[in-house]
Amino acid sequence: MKKDAKTPYQSTIDPSSITPKKVFEQRRQLIQMAAVGALGLSDMSFFSRQAFASNGTKLPSKKNPSYFLPDKITSYKDITMYNNFYEFGTDKSDPARYAHTLKTRPWTVSVEGLVKKPKEWDIDSLLKLAAMEERVYRFRCVEGWSMVIPWNGYALSHLIKACQPLGSAKYVEFVSLADPKQMPGVNNSVLNWPYTEGLRLDEAMNPLTLLSFGLYGEILPNQNGAPVRLVVPWKYGFKSAKSIVKIRFTDKEPATSWKISAPYEYGFYSNVNPDVNHPRWSQATERRIGSEGGLFAPKVKTLPFNGYAEEVAHLYKGMDLRKFY
Ligand code: MTE
Repeated sequence: MKKDAKTPYQSTIDPSSITPKKVFEQRRQLIQMAAVGALGLSDMSFFSRQAFASNGTKLPSKKNPSYFLPDKITSYKDITMYNNFYEFGTDKSDPARYAHTLKTRPWTVSVEGLVKKPKEWDIDSLLKLAAMEERVYRFRCVEGWSMVIPWNGYALSHLIKACQPLGSAKYVEFVSLADPKQMPGVNNSVLNWPYTEGLRLDEAMNPLTLLSFGLYGEILPNQNGAPVRLVVPWKYGFKSAKSIVKIRFTDKEPATSWKISAPYEYGFYSNVNPDVNHPRWSQATERRIGSEGGLFAPKVKTLPFNGYAEEVAHLYKGMDLRKFY
């Protein structure tokens, strides 16, 4: 996969048009906070160096031909410069600018709750649990933009099988790190920290659900959720929790950060659905980040389940997807 090194970074979206209201109002305050905090001018030189280069740490992976798309792959720059990672700020450029403060070693992921084999996994043993694959997935953000991303990782089901859930386990909760010393954004009450997400156990076991350690054949850049994140391609991007420290099996639907912050806007399921609008905007179309024409590029139609209906529609048979949004 070749990186698109020539195209200069340019955001194709006017962020004020798509950002959740509370976020937009608080954005200024957070930027000021980060500017007067531990992040001085020297960080800017780091930023300029990091921003436009890959991180260089290879993550050998085998292409999985079952997960390939003919679509143009989004450039490394766009994937790593246009991010949502509120622990580092609410602006799309904040994660690339500030996430270098995140220490990804040592790192452990605690697998607990309703399982026969709870375990605190060291990140380097977790990396070796299953063969590393490369999978190209569509990634659709609830805000109306999308990307096509070559992820590196393996199916989450490998980890689930290794920890042997009890018969009573029905849901899986994913908890991100929330350390104010490393993450300036968690001093802001824009979301309920730590960032928490959840899946039904059968969704978590679906072969599409990926535990990702890298992209473009290299370890994940911090801003994309290093050292380990979830990728759930048929759901809006916010279901894909970043920088995970805890995976907990429960018998109750986990409370998730976005649902707590705005229950009428964000449901537990959050399956990509062009027929169910967000209360403040349509979900019928999307804008591919980095596509030719920038802001004026034609929007493309959003597909049910983000194009993965064949693989996942059966999981929701008989459910009213307007009610369970
Ligand atoms: N995980 C954590 N811990 N914090 C976040 O703010 N943002 C979510 C999701 N996971 C978020 C998170 C949202 S809204 C999106 S769209 C995706 O991460 C963005 O992933 P990307 O930056 O790799 O594109």
